[in-house]
Amino acid sequence: MLIDNHNRNINYVRLAVTDRCNLRCFYCMPEEGIKYVKRDELLSYEEMLRMMTILSENGIEKVRITGGEPFLRKGMFEFLEQLTAIDGLKQVHITTNGTLTKGKVSRLKEMGISSMNLSLDSIDKQRFFDITRRDEFETVMDTLDELLEVGMPTKINCVVMEGQNTEDILPMVALAKDKPISVRFIEEMPFNGTGDHPETLVWTSAKTKEFIQNAHPGLKKIVDEKNSTSANYIIPGFKGSVGFIAAYSRLFCGTCNRIRITPQGMMKTCLYDDGVFNVRDIMRNGATDQEVLLAIQSAIGSRAKDGFEAEQNRNNRFVSESMATIGG
Ligand code: GTP
Ligand code: 5AD
Ligand code: SF4
Repeated sequence: MLIDNHNRNINYVRLAVTDRCNLRCFYCMPEEGIKYVKRDELLSYEEMLRMMTILSENGIEKVRITGGEPFLRKGMFEFLEQLTAIDGLKQVHITTNGTLTKGKVSRLKEMGISSMNLSLDSIDKQRFFDITRRDEFETVMDTLDELLEVGMPTKINCVVMEGQNTEDILPMVALAKDKPISVRFIEEMPFNGTGDHPETLVWTSAKTKEFIQNAHPGLKKIVDEKNSTSANYIIPGFKGSVGFIAAYSRLFCGTCNRIRITPQGMMKTCLYDDGVFNVRDIMRNGATDQEVLLAIQSAIGSRAKDGFEAEQNRNNRFVSESMATIGG
């Protein structure tokens, strides 16, 4: 088991497989994009599989594949087949923008992917374009239909932003009326690749919840899964649920069970830190499995207690990375 210095059991890895993305969501990346990592600087699939095998033998049960957009990386399906075959790894989840998975969801279901989280900030075609700067709305909605058709457990991630998509909040909630999905509203964070964070965009989870409660007074708290990032609610008569992720207020750090690996192999023990050590480098320098494990254990043994402390401890004081370079 991997236990951190605050007695939290670490059993979840967020593995970002690429920093590339085919959308340009303005809260994540500037319009011209970011400087992408060179191919040989990325963790190879072999290195990822080795690392995940070591971790799964030592208490990691869940992995979430993120990016950038994971399906932009060549050979992704073959990699996922190998990942789902690792013995101790009980759950393989994916967070995707849903633009490249149309027609391929049943294959993901068949190989044993546990669930998919779909990023969708608007269900209005024009607003979707304004936020993502790309015309992919219909493809994403087709992916959503397919996810439901094949019975893939699905969550929608919607970043709520003042002046951008607050008109979408209630229509997004309405998606959960007939569909068995979890619609989750996320606080916008400063990871936009510019270093400039206008706080005027941020709707706290409390504010979004109150807004929804005014329209749906029956909104009722349910018991959350252990280590959930979202506080979850149901509305009478709805098939799905509604959740709030206080990612900027950082209300769930006390139960944080996850570490992150960036596309370049940097290990992060908190979303808000600027990296602890590079797993790729030690593997390429010939570390044994035991040495890789020791390095990971040592990092886990000195985690910040929460996202505020992690931010405080950064070498590079201000958060400015694009979320695509971290994996969300
Ligand atoms: P589940 O495994 O389905 O609960 O998903 P998740 O919420 O862990 O992952 P997802 O990739 O869907 O992330 C949803 C949002 O939560 C994104 O905006 C993430 O950046 C944010 N998030 C995920 N993990 C953390 C975390 O450890 N800290 C903070 N502050 N935000 C997080
Ligand atoms: N603030 C909050 N959430 C973000 N995401 C990407 N950038 C940000 C940000 N700056 C979300 C995406 C995706 C998830 C992994 O992270 O919308 O759903
Ligand atoms: Fe964990 Fe850091 Fe996120 Fe808090 S902000 S939940 S400590 S990753």
